Amino acid sequence: MPDEGPRIIALASGKGGVGKTALTANLGVALGMLGKKVLLIDADIQMANLGLMLGMEQRPVTLQDVLLGHADPRDAVYNVRENVKFVPSGLSLEKMLRVDEEMLGEVVQKLAQGNDFVLIDCPPGVGPDALAALNASKEVLVLTMAEPVSVADAMKLAIFAERRLGLTVTGVVVNMYKGMKHEMKEDEIQKLVQSPVLAVIPEDPLLRKASIEGVPVVVRHPDAPSSLVITGLASKLAGVAKVEMRKPKKPGLFEAIKNLFKGFPIIGHKPKLQEARRGEDKIGGVEKK
Ligand SMILES: Nc1ncnc2c1ncn2[C@@H]1O[C@H](COP(=O)(O)OP(=O)(O)O)[C@@H](O)[C@H]1O
Ligand SMILES: [Mg+2]
Repeated sequence: MPDEGPRIIALASGKGGVGKTALTANLGVALGMLGKKVLLIDADIQMANLGLMLGMEQRPVTLQDVLLGHADPRDAVYNVRENVKFVPSGLSLEKMLRVDEEMLGEVVQKLAQGNDFVLIDCPPGVGPDALAALNASKEVLVLTMAEPVSVADAMKLAIFAERRLGLTVTGVVVNMYKGMKHEMKEDEIQKLVQSPVLAVIPEDPLLRKASIEGVPVVVRHPDAPSSLVITGLASKLAGVAKVEMRKPKKPGLFEAIKNLFKGFPIIGHKPKLQEARRGEDKIGGVEKK
């Protein structure tokens, strides 16, 4: 488990649209409600949706300004509510840039001080921007939907994060669960991804609606089905409820699934950006909205 200091957790997924941004907002607020000091960082600089979901879009100083050296990191931190702060990304095109991996790591380290949790809303996949966000983190929560293709992506991402980047895979969160026949069951997902499923969040129109309104569902509808699960997840992470860290290990399984990567190197040194760019299209690719 992670060492002392703030828990810096990336919320990551193989593809976009899985609910990373919505979960970052809601989990962050739920942790804040439990009395934890939380910093949310929008590291998905191409999409920059976290501000919208928090009802805090268009802030004057953004992560881009900090990464461009135009602003002090502390000037990009905004209060969301008690215990919860937020670093936005900007949508302005002239501020678009590739994230400097080292610089993002330094900024995150600096801003993490004094917090219990830092949640980093990642771009999907393992392209350069996602890699920068993952490498700035210590742990990763892997988001997936219960469809087999999504779970396969989650598995690749979890293995990549653990074996290549040396992150702790804290667990898997299944989102938008509909309970349909074609969806994989929790134990099947756990077995495949080889990490504990910490939460199964149902498909919940109340969450979708609240997100559009810029209010986290855990605030707008604390008793909504999704809110109850997210609050439970927050309790697990905060240590209020016990996390079942079942790690199903099957000898030989790793070898078998390695074939799925088709040449994508899993074990070895930390990849640099050049390598990441080559691997980009082989592990889920970038978000297409
Ligand atoms: N459990 C859920 N039930 C219903 N809608 C959801 C749920 N989780 C996320 N959404 C919605 O799905 C869309 C994509 O979510 P988002 O957080 O932007 O995904 P990502 O950040 O992974 O691309 C958003 O409109 C969001 O409100
Ligand atoms: Mg997002």
